[in-house]
Amino acid sequence: MSNFNHECVLGVRHWTDTLFSFTTTRNPAFRFRNGEFTMIGLNMGQKPVLRAYSVASANYEDHLEFFSIKVPDGPLTSRLQHLKEGDEIIVSRKATGTLVIDNLEEGRNLYLIGTGTGLAPFLSVIKDPETYERFEKVVLVHGCRRVAELAYGEMITEELPNDDLIGELVRNQLIYYPTVTRDPFHNRGRITDLITSGKLFSDNSLAPLAPEHDRAMICGSPALVHDTRALLLGHGFVEGNHGEPGQFVVEKAFAER
Ligand code: A2P
Repeated sequence: MSNFNHECVLGVRHWTDTLFSFTTTRNPAFRFRNGEFTMIGLNMGQKPVLRAYSVASANYEDHLEFFSIKVPDGPLTSRLQHLKEGDEIIVSRKATGTLVIDNLEEGRNLYLIGTGTGLAPFLSVIKDPETYERFEKVVLVHGCRRVAELAYGEMITEELPNDDLIGELVRNQLIYYPTVTRDPFHNRGRITDLITSGKLFSDNSLAPLAPEHDRAMICGSPALVHDTRALLLGHGFVEGNHGEPGQFVVEKAFAER
């Protein structure tokens, strides 16, 4: 049996010149935990070209969603960005990853810290009712260079609060904090600076960050992950992974090389 399913593209959305997302059919046998990634790709000639992508849809939805950058000469995304409804992609039958709530110890508030397409795994985490059972407040911080790159903002602020399954949980427990560094916007600055200055917490009436009661997931560029991890370790947080839950977990966003 092949290790891959063939899925049909249902829709494509271009957010900017460099960012797009798409939805596909989902083989009912494909199971994943919210926050995990899988391998997806296209058949090109003899061999498929595959890359890791976080699943942006929740594991109870009947479609799959992926959020991607466009790299003009990238082996996969130079082709993937031209996907249209009805095209076929291949999706691994397996998913894996560190950014799952089971890898975190019990805690009060959960910080989801993502830059660019590093938002993707958190889109499934914030749709998971269990996330809201485990944590009092879920603070989604999305950092981008430009306002136009703050993809999914409307879904988070307009659609999720009215969702039949999780609307009430989202209204009561989700805090969405988008921030940009290179455009005027109501929230500005790098996430690391907003944590260090305390502005992230004072803006949202949250207690200062502390390993006793806060938990975090980080997803973004290698530099973002490196610096944010160092910041949390400096605050006394312990990193977790599979089999050993901790106070924070990290994964780099899967940019095409
Ligand atoms: P900046 O504009 O100051 O570089 P990128 O597109 O490079 O992945 O960046 C996405 C967002 O993450 C940008 O707002 C960028 O800010 C910010 N960023 C990049 N590197 C870091 C880092 N090491 N620490 C904190 N924020 C970062």
